[in-house]
Amino acid sequence: MTRIILFTGKGGVGKTTIAAATGIKCASLGYKTLVISTDPAHSLADSFQRELAPYPVEIRENLYGMEVNVEYELEKHWETIKEYLKLFFMSQGIEDVVAEELAIFPGFDELASLLHLLEKYESGEYDVIILDCAPTGETLRLLSVPEVAKWYMNRFFGIEKKLLKVVRPIAEPLIDVPLPSEEVLDKVQELYVKIGRLKEILESDEAIIRLVMNPEKMVIKESERAFTYLNLFGYAVDAVIINKIFPEEAGGYFKYWFEAQKKYMEEIKHSFPVPIFRVMFKEREIVGDELEKLANEIYGEKDPAEVFVTEKPMKIIKDDEGYSFYIKAPFIRKEEVKLMKRGDELIVVAGQWKRIVFLPQSLALKDAVKASFNNGEIKILFR
Ligand SMILES: Nc1ncnc2c1ncn2[C@@H]1O[C@H](COP(=O)(O)OP(=O)(O)OP(=O)(O)O)[C@@H](O)[C@H]1O
Ligand SMILES: [Mg+2]
Repeated sequence: MTRIILFTGKGGVGKTTIAAATGIKCASLGYKTLVISTDPAHSLADSFQRELAPYPVEIRENLYGMEVNVEYELEKHWETIKEYLKLFFMSQGIEDVVAEELAIFPGFDELASLLHLLEKYESGEYDVIILDCAPTGETLRLLSVPEVAKWYMNRFFGIEKKLLKVVRPIAEPLIDVPLPSEEVLDKVQELYVKIGRLKEILESDEAIIRLVMNPEKMVIKESERAFTYLNLFGYAVDAVIINKIFPEEAGGYFKYWFEAQKKYMEEIKHSFPVPIFRVMFKEREIVGDELEKLANEIYGEKDPAEVFVTEKPMKIIKDDEGYSFYIKAPFIRKEEVKLMKRGDELIVVAGQWKRIVFLPQSLALKDAVKASFNNGEIKILFR
C-alpha cells in the first residue's frame, strides 16, 4: 500500500512549503517518501535547498524529490500522436509552425505529473508519494483529466479503431485528411489505459487531498469551490491546512489583519467538515532546516501518512425507500444543482461544473425518482 497525498490551494498560499515539510516528517517516521513537483520555477528545489532532477534525487534518509520535466514527458508520451495531429492540421492548410503549436496536448503538464505518479505508484518503491500540485483551478482540471479523457476516448477513439481497418483503404484516397495509423491509435490506447488506472488510484482509499489556504476572503472562496468540486469528482479531502496566520503579538500595524484572520478562521472551521491544521506566519522564509520545525508545528504527534477523514464524498445507502446515492457538495446553492440520468450515467451540473458519474450496475437499471439537497449533501433516490 502506498499513501498518495496531493496538496492543492490557491497560488502562493504555501503548497510547496507544506508538501516539502510533510515529506520531511514522513521520511523521519521511517516511510520511504517521494515528493513530486511540476513547478517550472523550481520552488521545491528552493524549499529543500537542493538541486532536483526529472527523476527521484535523494535528499536525506528516506526522502526523495523530483521535478517533472514537461518537455521530456511530452516527447515520451505524446510525440507519435502529435506527429499525426500535425499532419492533420497541415492537411487543413494550417502552416507548419502553427500546426506544431496546435498539436500540443492541452494541460499536458498536469497530465505529465499524474503519469509520473502512476509510474512511481506502480513501482511499489515508495510508502508515501506527495504531489505538489498547481494552484487550485489547474488542479481541478488535472483531476478531471482521467474522467474527461476516458469519456472522450470511449466515444471517439474506441469506435474509430475498429472502423478504421475497414474504412482506411476506401476512404484515404478520396479525402484530403490523413487517417491515424495503427501506431497512433496504439499510443492513444496506451494513454487511455493509463488514465483509467490513474482514476482508480486517485479515487481509492490510498489517495487523499489536502487543501492549503490562508485566512483571507478570496482564498477561502476559491478553496470552498475546490472542496465542492473535488467531492463531486469523488476525491477525498481529508484535511485543511491554514497557513500564514498572524500572531497576536504582532499587534499595532497588523491589528486589522489579526482580527480579520480570526474571523476567517472561524468561517473555515464552520465550512470545511474536516480536521484543520494551523501554521503561523513565520519571521522568515521556510527553507532547509526550518521545514522540519514547520512539519512538527503542523502535525505534532500525528502521522501525516494517516488519513484524517475516512468518510467518502460519495456513498450509496440502501433502505426501505430504495437506494440513496449521496454526493457531498457543500457551498453550492440548491438552485445551482442540476441532475440528469442517461443509462448508466448520472450527470451532475453544479454551477459551471459538470460531472459524469458512471453509476454502478445496481443503480443504472433503476430510475432516479427523487433528489434533494440537505446540509451540503445531494441525495438521489433510485428505485
Ligand atoms: N507560514 C509561513 N510563514 C512565512 N512564510 C511562508 C509561510 N509559508 C510559506 N511561506 C513563504 O511564502 C512563499 C510562497 O510559498 P510556497 O511557494 O510554498 O507557496 P505555493 O502555494 O507553493 O505557491 P505557488 O502557487 O506559486 O506554487 C514562499 O516564499 C514561502 O517561503
Ligand atoms: Mg508551489
